[in-house]
Amino acid sequence: MADWSRIEALPQERLEALFAADAGRLARLTLDVAGIHFDWSKTHLTADAVAAFEALAKETDLAGRREAMFAGAHINSTEDRPVEHTAERGEGRAESVQAAAIQHARMRAVIDAIEAEAFGPVRHILHVGIGGSALGPHLLVDALGRDSDRYDVAIVSNVDGMALDDVFERFDPATTLLVIASKTFTTTETMMNATSVIDWMQGAGVDDPYGRVIALTAAPDKAVEWGVDETRVLGFGEGVGGRYSLWSSIGFPAAVKLGWDQFEELLDGAAEMDRHFRLSALHENAPALAAFADLYYTQVRKAETRAPFAYDERLRLLPSYLQQLEMESNGKSVGLDGQPVGRPTAPITWGGVGTDAQHAVFQLLHQGTHLIPVEFLAVIEAGDTLPEEHHRQLLLNAFAQGAALMKGKQADDPARSYPGDRPSSTLLLDRLDARTLGALIAFYEHRTFVNGVLLGINSFDQFGVELGKEMAKAAGQGGGDFDPSTTDLIARAGLE
Ligand code: F6P
Repeated sequence: MADWSRIEALPQERLEALFAADAGRLARLTLDVAGIHFDWSKTHLTADAVAAFEALAKETDLAGRREAMFAGAHINSTEDRPVEHTAERGEGRAESVQAAAIQHARMRAVIDAIEAEAFGPVRHILHVGIGGSALGPHLLVDALGRDSDRYDVAIVSNVDGMALDDVFERFDPATTLLVIASKTFTTTETMMNATSVIDWMQGAGVDDPYGRVIALTAAPDKAVEWGVDETRVLGFGEGVGGRYSLWSSIGFPAAVKLGWDQFEELLDGAAEMDRHFRLSALHENAPALAAFADLYYTQVRKAETRAPFAYDERLRLLPSYLQQLEMESNGKSVGLDGQPVGRPTAPITWGGVGTDAQHAVFQLLHQGTHLIPVEFLAVIEAGDTLPEEHHRQLLLNAFAQGAALMKGKQADDPARSYPGDRPSSTLLLDRLDARTLGALIAFYEHRTFVNGVLLGINSFDQFGVELGKEMAKAAGQGGGDFDPSTTDLIARAGLE
């Protein structure tokens, strides 16, 4: 069992006192990596806390597990698999890096074929996938594709038919390509949506709809069996987990929308963060320091949630992307040894977009009874075309909120007082381009991994999602041993 006693015994001083006592605080708790300025000085991390976490990292063999990941060892022990998403961006076991490069070359060739109109004129890309097979590509297209008029890309995940209905109204079946993204090629929602798209094309008289399908999967045989020609099945390795897969062929819609050069920039930015994570000492290692702050709040201050706020519309999908990354990876109760972890694991990740969130949920952040570490994300270079006062207001608001959370304010009227000492970190990007976004997402991946290693859990399985799927399937087949409430609900909806 790792020894947390040194961390739990750390003195608990107010943030302002920490600044007053240490002139070197800002320099020690800020870093610049790959176009991103990281600032943890408004968290309760101190030099002693960082040293205590470094000791814990040594005890839990973070360095060894990090190397094992990059070496392609089977660190996903419950599934007996390697963890190789870094190979997709050129960092990792040589054979896996080479295999990923071959898959990327195939992906590029299909994009070239689309551009050369080998499928006839293509205007629309309809990507169906769910979870990791949708959230990552959607984030990329939404963040980086706003100025691109290359193709109209829709990403549909929900089995709720309204999601597809909306797209069917906008897209022309004759100029649409269907992209089916599923690591397993068995996910009910995705397969049902894919079939409905084929039906829509057939209904509109499109010749050979199956000839307009591209499959992104780690199960190529299943895609071929489903009816996709093998030349249009773009694979990736089993070691690339769903929520870590946007670098692989799963990133196809982003590569089509942005163009191949941009997709490569994304991979290069991520690789830069990989090298930083692999080679930097922990006290100047961005993913490690961020994880230390996460763990300080969940383990010592018993924070149950954490909240990233993107002060940039282009990053509005980041909180939902992070929800899957962090909660599916580290929302576990059992350790690597199969025993109960015995301490809190992942906090609940939630968040939103600034400044909107200020007028909705920030009341609770400033005066509520929960301690919530906040993460501000902002970009120095504006993405809009409006007078610069807009962007100036946006950034000033982000910074002022962090200051207010920390400083607080005393008033005679308790209802008008702010306790202060509420922590936040800030990630300030020079600009939002493919390279910086790649580095940012890779930072979050490695931070999640460090959290998992220090907690002694496997961040790369997700058995927690299986039971609900099994029961939905049983219910669909008229079976399942359901409680009276569920049986009643099924009957009321006429589903029995
Ligand atoms: O149900 C959870 C999950 O397995 C995620 O981990 C995954 O990203 C998603 O479903 C989609 O899975 P697939 O890519 O195999 O369709």
